Amino acid sequence: MDRFLINGGKKLNGTVHISGSKNAALPILVATLLTDEKCVLRRVPNLRDVRTTLKILEYLGKKITYQNNTVTVEANGTLKNNLPYELVKQMRASFWVAGPLLTRFKQADIPLPGGCAIGVRPVDIHLKGFEKLGAVCDVKAGNVLLRAQRLQPAQIILRFPSVGATQNLLMCACLIPGETILENTAKEPEVDDVIAFLNKMGADIHTDDKGRLIVHGQTVLHGAEHTVVADRIETGSFVLAAAATRGDVTVADCVPEHNAILLSDLREAGFTLDVTDTSVHVHAYNGEIKPVRVRTAPYPGFATDLQAPWMTLMTLCTGTAEIDEDIFENRFMHAPELVRMGANIYTEKSVARVTGVQKLSAAHVQASDLRGGFALVMAGLCADGKTEVERIYHIDRGYENLEQKLTALGANIRRYNPDKDEF
Ligand code: UD1
Repeated sequence: MDRFLINGGKKLNGTVHISGSKNAALPILVATLLTDEKCVLRRVPNLRDVRTTLKILEYLGKKITYQNNTVTVEANGTLKNNLPYELVKQMRASFWVAGPLLTRFKQADIPLPGGCAIGVRPVDIHLKGFEKLGAVCDVKAGNVLLRAQRLQPAQIILRFPSVGATQNLLMCACLIPGETILENTAKEPEVDDVIAFLNKMGADIHTDDKGRLIVHGQTVLHGAEHTVVADRIETGSFVLAAAATRGDVTVADCVPEHNAILLSDLREAGFTLDVTDTSVHVHAYNGEIKPVRVRTAPYPGFATDLQAPWMTLMTLCTGTAEIDEDIFENRFMHAPELVRMGANIYTEKSVARVTGVQKLSAAHVQASDLRGGFALVMAGLCADGKTEVERIYHIDRGYENLEQKLTALGANIRRYNPDKDEF
C-alpha cells in the first residue's frame, strides 16, 4: 500500500490551481443515468471516488470515455437497475444511483451503504423521501429494495439538510411529472451545481422565496454538457496548508465565496488574505496564530470536511481552541495521530480542545479517512524531519495530484510503496 514520505519544515510558496469538485462531480455523473443521450462533463477530477463512480456507470450499462478531465457518458444498451455490494462498499455515494434508477424503472435494488469510518451515516432521509414520492422501501439481506407502481410528486420536509438525500430526491423528482416541493434541503454549492446540470438536461428546478426547492417534473431529460464547479474543500485544504506552514501561496481557479466562513476564521486567527473572485492569496505570516473556535454546520456554516485540516492549524495556535463537530459523530480519528506528532488535543464526544504547541514533531502516522488524512499530511509539512503517512488510499479518494501540487509549492513529499519501491 502506498504511503507519503514527507520531509517537513518548509514553507509552501507559489500558486496552486484547484481541480473540479469531487462532491459535485460524483452526483453529476450519477445524474447522467436520467437520460439515454450523450452527456459531456468537463473538469472532472481524476480521483479514486470518480473512477469508482465511472465503474458503477459502466456496470449499469453506460459507455464512458475519460480523457484530460473530460468524461463522456453515452448509452450502451439497456440499463441495469441494481448494484452489487462490491461497488457500493467502496464508496457510500454509490447509493445515490437509487434516485435516478427508481424514477426511470420504478424499481431499484441497491445494497445499504452501511457504516463508515466517520460515523453511522444512515440513509433514512433518502428512504423517507422516496416513500413520499410513492415508492415502497424494503430492506432484505442488506439490500434496499425500492418498488413503485407509480411515482407521484410530493411535498417533502427533510428532517436534516442532508447533502446526499437532497441530491438523490432531486434526481428522482425531476422525472416525476407534477410539482414536488423539497424543504429544509442542503444549500451546499455542490447541490447548486447538480441543479445547474439537471436544468441543462431539461429539468425545471428553482428555489422559491422561502428557500424551498421547487421541481416541475418532466417526462424525459436530455443529454447536456457541463463544467464542474471548483472544489471548495480542496481550496480550503490548500489555504490551510499554506497558513500552517507559514507560507505565501495563491490558491487559484477557485470560488472564494464558497469558503467565506473559513476565510473569515483565518483572518480572525491573524492571517492576511487577498481575495479576488477566483483566488485567495495567503500572505506569509510569522505572528501568533490566535485560537479561533469553530463549529461545523451545514453550508454556509464551517464545513465538516475542513474540520480536520483546521485542527492541524490550531495545534500551532497560542492558547486553546475549541472545535465542535456537529455533523458527524465520529470525526476526530485524526486527533490521536496528531497527538503522536506532539499536538495537545483533548476530545470528548463532539468537542475537541486543542492547546497549541510551539512545533509539531515528525512521526509515523496513519490516515483513517480522507480529510483526516490530509490533516496528517499538513502536520507532516509543518513538522521538522521525516513524517510517514500510511493508508493514503483514503487521501487518494479526494485529492487530485496532491503530491505533484504540493511539490510545485516547494514541499518535499513523495509517494512510496514499501512492497515495491526502494526506501
Ligand atoms: C456529503 C459529502 C461529505 C460531507 C457531507 C456533509 C459527498 C460525496 N460527500 O456526504 O464530504 O462531509 O456531505 O457536508 O458529497 N444523515 C442521516 N440520514 C440520512 C442521511 C444523512 O442521518 O439519510 C446524517 C449523516 O449520518 C450525517 C449528516 O446527516 O451525520 C450529514 O450527512 P449528509 O449531508 O447526507 O452527508 P453525505 O451526503 O453523505
